[in-house]
Amino acid sequence: MYETSLLEPIYAFLHCETPDEWIDEAKKPENLSIILRDHLLCELKAAQSAMYLIRKYAVDKESAATLLEWFKPYEEFVYKKVGSLESLKGKSNISKRITARADAVYSQELIDKMVLLIKEELHHFYQVLEIMEERNIPYEAITASRYAKGMLSNIITHEPHTLIDKLIIGAFIEARSCERFAKLAPYLEDDLAKFYISLLRSESRHYQDYLSLAEEISGGDISKRVAVFAKAEADLIQSPDHDFKFHSGKPITIN
Ligand SMILES: [Fe+2]
Ligand SMILES: [Fe+2]
Repeated sequence: MYETSLLEPIYAFLHCETPDEWIDEAKKPENLSIILRDHLLCELKAAQSAMYLIRKYAVDKESAATLLEWFKPYEEFVYKKVGSLESLKGKSNISKRITARADAVYSQELIDKMVLLIKEELHHFYQVLEIMEERNIPYEAITASRYAKGMLSNIITHEPHTLIDKLIIGAFIEARSCERFAKLAPYLEDDLAKFYISLLRSESRHYQDYLSLAEEISGGDISKRVAVFAKAEADLIQSPDHDFKFHSGKPITIN
């Protein structure tokens, strides 16, 4: 279905695989709507965090406004239920160029990689919404799992460490998503399985982009910080979790 070499670096990077208990829960047909609704929001959040990162650290004033404008239809859909699959069509592309501010320490490379990532995440958002519509699963707001918050609680709160830590967290979220898509795909209906497999390539590139940006910006060895987040991430994935979501821990099932 896909080259296993695609997942090798992901397995080497993550400290644990998804527990079977999570897969057992995720493959239940009655949980499909939670998975898809949460996945939809995760795509927007992935795009938003990349956007806020370049707004904060890299882009000029005009580009900052362009970025907000780009996200408007997606945010209005998610937060105000304004718009539809039809009105979001083709919106993942951006026509204006996003440029670095003159004093930006961080290069245009950060911007270019993040803009490409945002385009892809917004396109994934559209694809998930399309799949939900086909299945008559209405979009409804859903609360966030403990995962991202748990990762963010380990951040060093002074620069440039904050930026480096955020990039490392980005790498873990992308890598875990990739691992879960691959693991879950064999249990899903054909079209959905095909879609999840199609996401592997971009998500594994996102993981690599985040990691290489973290390395470049730190200019040194980031292995200690990577180890901190690897441990925190594996704890969040393996410890019992009452809340079932795309990035949740080991489900607690009451028999
Ligand atoms: Fe994505
Ligand atoms: Fe991604």
